[in-house]
Amino acid sequence: MSFLGIDLGTSGLRALLVDKNGTPIGSAERSYEVSNPRPGWSEQNPADWIDALEAAVFELRSQFPAFCDLCGIGVAGHMHGATLIDASGNVLRPCILWNDVRSEKEAHRLDGIDHVRELSGNIVFPGFTAPKLAWVREHEPELFAKIHKVLLPAAFLNNYLTGEYVADMSDSAGTSWLNVAHRLWSNYLLDVGQMREDQMPRLVEGSECAGMLRSELSRKWGLSHGVAVAGGAGDNAAAACGIGALNEGAGFVSLGTSGVILVARNSYAAAPDAAVHTFCHAVPNHWYQMGVMLSATDSLNWLSKITGKRPAELTRALGENIRPPATVRFLPYLSGERTPHNDSQIRGGFTGLSTATSTEDLTCAVLEGVAFGLRDSFEALGSTGVEIESLMAIGGGSASTYWLKLIATTLNIPLRLPAGREFGAALGAARLAMTASTKSTLSEVMIAPRISESITPNEDHRAALEEAYESFKNAYPGLRRIQ
Ligand code: XUL
Repeated sequence: MSFLGIDLGTSGLRALLVDKNGTPIGSAERSYEVSNPRPGWSEQNPADWIDALEAAVFELRSQFPAFCDLCGIGVAGHMHGATLIDASGNVLRPCILWNDVRSEKEAHRLDGIDHVRELSGNIVFPGFTAPKLAWVREHEPELFAKIHKVLLPAAFLNNYLTGEYVADMSDSAGTSWLNVAHRLWSNYLLDVGQMREDQMPRLVEGSECAGMLRSELSRKWGLSHGVAVAGGAGDNAAAACGIGALNEGAGFVSLGTSGVILVARNSYAAAPDAAVHTFCHAVPNHWYQMGVMLSATDSLNWLSKITGKRPAELTRALGENIRPPATVRFLPYLSGERTPHNDSQIRGGFTGLSTATSTEDLTCAVLEGVAFGLRDSFEALGSTGVEIESLMAIGGGSASTYWLKLIATTLNIPLRLPAGREFGAALGAARLAMTASTKSTLSEVMIAPRISESITPNEDHRAALEEAYESFKNAYPGLRRIQ
């Protein structure tokens, strides 16, 4: 038996083949473009996702004989994107992605309507799906009139794989149309967005079977038996499945382009006013909450671009022992901020620069600024009553021990590093495929990885960092906005 986990990411698709124990056999990746036709717009051509999937499957098939024993597939996708489908199943326009901010005005309007936060459990952020549809209605009315279904990126692939319109709860929770507490489409939320329930895909839990692989694809891929397709998940829920974070208090800090602190919950405890995201988990009766900062490694990448030094070179220059807080402070709002500010107009900045400021000082300030941004998310999550004793550290930025020490000290909790390389959204998706296509239980499949290292807070720097965090927080209200 083998299983396929597909991570449909923003810059590329990764397909991971695992064996019956969930152990990786091999993977294949393909990248594709994001187009930015205007400032703040971010779109992708859904046909590129299919091409990437077919090419990755072709590579896996030709390299790994175990592909012939495929029993289940799970898809994890970048969230919130609106793929619009007409009555003949054609894509009406490029998918408007999660990081597209054209619908800020629409988001603000929807967010102000009575009961919207209460039912959806969240602020209507400009990146979410409902405001994108309000924008299309206003600016592309002829196209809006032709919409038969709205599919999130993962649901679009589910449709390609099964021929059915079907989406999982964790991804659907990011639309602002789902009643997140009750895990069903909300007619009230759809009504205020001038959408209808028949335009939505059927809902299933991520770990349930959503449908069977179309026979045409089965033949094309050389498979001679039925293959179940799981409901799948949004990328963060899938990553949580990949590290076994299903139960209360378990979670991760992810240092990717954006920075995420995610924590699993056994019950629904929304806190929209704290700008925390509260979404259904990819497994029944569980939810998760997360704080999202928009520029984590993106802040370091920006510094890398302007200094001409690679990110690893910048962080390596600091050594491994953290330094006292910098006098230079960095405000990491290069693309606006979600948690805790919900402000797509603010921009970042440095304060405290002097003629003596060196590149190392700037690197320290950027790493610290991101750590403080994550602390903001951590505090926002704390306001929901969840207790977080430790977090796994994942994502590209976790390769810097200096950064992890700084974050552990700023959050005052240990960060644990998973051993091995494979624990991301693709593994989570493969695990969802396993539960959807076999009798294995969630607790058998969604296990925590072995820990290679635990990074504990540094007591020598705690008090000074705490003081620096206070001054970081105070800098926000005075920041300049782009309009
Ligand atoms: C979550 C979010 C991102 C995207 C892209 O709210 O916007 O995690 O799913 O990764």
